[in-house]
Amino acid sequence: MDSFTYDNGSLRCEGVDLHDVAAEYGTPTYVYSRSTLATHLADLTAAFADLDPLVCYAVKTCSNLHLLSELASGGAGADVVSGGELHRAITAGIPAERIVFAGVGKSQAELEEAVAHNIGCINVESESELELLARVVAESGRPQNVAVRVNPDVEGHNTPEKTTTGTRGSKFGVDLERVADIFARAAGLPHLRLTGLHVHLGSPIHSPEPYVRALTRVLALAAELRAAGHTVELINMGGGFAAAYETGSAPGWKDYAEAIVPVLRPFVEAGGRVVMEPGRSIAANAGILLTRVRYLKQAGDRTVAIVDAGMNNLIRAAFYDAFHFMWPVRPAGGVVPPARTESLSLDGSVPYDVAGPICESSDYLARDRALPVLREGDLIAVFGAGAYGMTMASQYNSSLRPAEVLVEGSAGRLIRRRDTYEDLVAAELGLPGSRI
Ligand code: LLP
Repeated sequence: MDSFTYDNGSLRCEGVDLHDVAAEYGTPTYVYSRSTLATHLADLTAAFADLDPLVCYAVKTCSNLHLLSELASGGAGADVVSGGELHRAITAGIPAERIVFAGVGKSQAELEEAVAHNIGCINVESESELELLARVVAESGRPQNVAVRVNPDVEGHNTPEKTTTGTRGSKFGVDLERVADIFARAAGLPHLRLTGLHVHLGSPIHSPEPYVRALTRVLALAAELRAAGHTVELINMGGGFAAAYETGSAPGWKDYAEAIVPVLRPFVEAGGRVVMEPGRSIAANAGILLTRVRYLKQAGDRTVAIVDAGMNNLIRAAFYDAFHFMWPVRPAGGVVPPARTESLSLDGSVPYDVAGPICESSDYLARDRALPVLREGDLIAVFGAGAYGMTMASQYNSSLRPAEVLVEGSAGRLIRRRDTYEDLVAAELGLPGSRI
């Protein structure tokens, strides 16, 4: 599943002891495994090989340039949702024709940048956006591929409400019944090649079934559009595959592919192109957050471990009530977890509330979590932190965003240094009369 394993009572990422990473780079630090990342991309691509899809990694998941560059060398394109992400993708060397751009609120400047790069596809999410894009494209004088993001009105499966996007009334996409009208409007527009349909149901979708339902609707729509004389040559099925935050809790890529490939195969056999936008399933288990216990204290009847990583570094527990497995890097008594599950209780384990240093009552990484006895100074690995970890980190409480380390074999290298105090104020203009 991934390359974070215990060896001789100590947690390693590939061949690197995480104790050494903490000693060299400090904590909190995100640590990524290159081989896990590469294997996940390769396995996913292999599972869907029959469709020969363009796999556009969702940059929002984990956007460090070094990771993007590794994924690009494994054949990935990029799914971006802002000019900033487009800048990252281009900077990392991802070819423009392998970049797709979604997002409900793209600015004119962002559309101009995308068109200037002539990216693979711009996914419009409203009639008004299409109008603005049409002007930008006409001005460019070059053909630009465009898709409509469709809201298929399909529920996910065990998908949190906060990360559901494909149901009626959501801000994302265009209602199915309005898409034909958009294609009709686009038909006469110069250089604007509206030839694609995009869906993204939400994240994570714990079953292939919602994809099958949504894609069946999209294919029916494609047939309708073709009958009306339009071309549909691209279907983008979005992202949303689940990651195993707990051992065995997510379907594998083969499970998704088994159900989805037969649905899309006729489209591909007829010359159509398929795009996928996976993020979490590739990156989540390719990264951990390494944190150190600062203090242990008693609060009423609870034992609280105050660690140096908080909601500012990894917001998912506080924001979504998300579960992240965690375990000491060198557990007391050498107790190594047999599986990463919520209900793990091993002999001698103690229930801890694991809290961060931030001045917010919601700043917990876990509550009532059974862990081996902790001592102040212990290192803890928070698993499944490679997706929506660092990219959602903030400087709240004027805290410094963590360092990032990429491990390859027996070496780890710093791919982002920790913020400094200077970084915190770098964008703020000098105070009147000050020398800065
Ligand atoms: N494509 C589009 C258009 C998306 O909006 C997303 C995610 C993806 C692809 C990638 O989905 P994935 O394969 O990673 O599930 N911050 C939340 C997740 C928000 C997802 C936003 N969109 C979390 O931490 O759970």
